[in-house]
Amino acid sequence: MIVKTAEFICSNTQISKLPPPVKAEYAFIGRSNVGKSSLINMLTAKKGLAKTSQTPGKTQLINHFFINDSWYIVDLPGYGYARASKTNKANWNKFIHNYLDKRESLQCVMVLIDSRLEPQKIDLEFCNWLGEKGLSFVLVFTKADKQSSVKTDQNIAKFKKSLTETFEEFPQYFVTSSELQSGRDEILGFIDNINKS
Ligand code: GTP
Ligand code: MG
Repeated sequence: MIVKTAEFICSNTQISKLPPPVKAEYAFIGRSNVGKSSLINMLTAKKGLAKTSQTPGKTQLINHFFINDSWYIVDLPGYGYARASKTNKANWNKFIHNYLDKRESLQCVMVLIDSRLEPQKIDLEFCNWLGEKGLSFVLVFTKADKQSSVKTDQNIAKFKKSLTETFEEFPQYFVTSSELQSGRDEILGFIDNINKS
């Protein structure tokens, strides 16, 4: 798929104010600082479209970007930000779970996982929650440029082992680097296939 246009539409804290759920939508989610906003900029080839930061917790709202005048990419606030207060974490859970659970136009949740790390409890718990809700999701292993492909493969294998303790099948996954622009065609192709079906 060629991304011809990518346009910021709105930022929201209220589900009631989101764009009408009539266009296919793909939500990007994962731990704070995992590289969600960077990945969105890489996919759309627009550097400043989604705000990125070295400080975790940059994205605080549900951000809608309209692609090729036909479907949405949604940038979500990260989970697991260690310095967030208990109230903030509880609010995040309620707000994001509510969005993911209720959004009729949501086609697939793109769960970003830092490829440098051993399986993290919070990521596994989040995948399990998506499974319990019957929401369709894929995994996107980010920042693959930061270590050797051998190390990335090892971490993916460990994640696979942990996740298949609860899932019969390991979900489809992508390996990406926003720095090297890798994994772009694969993710856009995946989305294109769903949009066409
Ligand atoms: P929050 O909105 O705070 O949850 O973070 P986020 O998941 O949107 O992460 P963001 O895209 O802002 O990136 C966090 C940091 O990681 C930034 O300093 C990025 O430059 C860096 N980063 C993101 N993706 C990559 C990547 O593929 N490779 C490398 N080397 N750095 C990356
Ligand atoms: Mg962000």
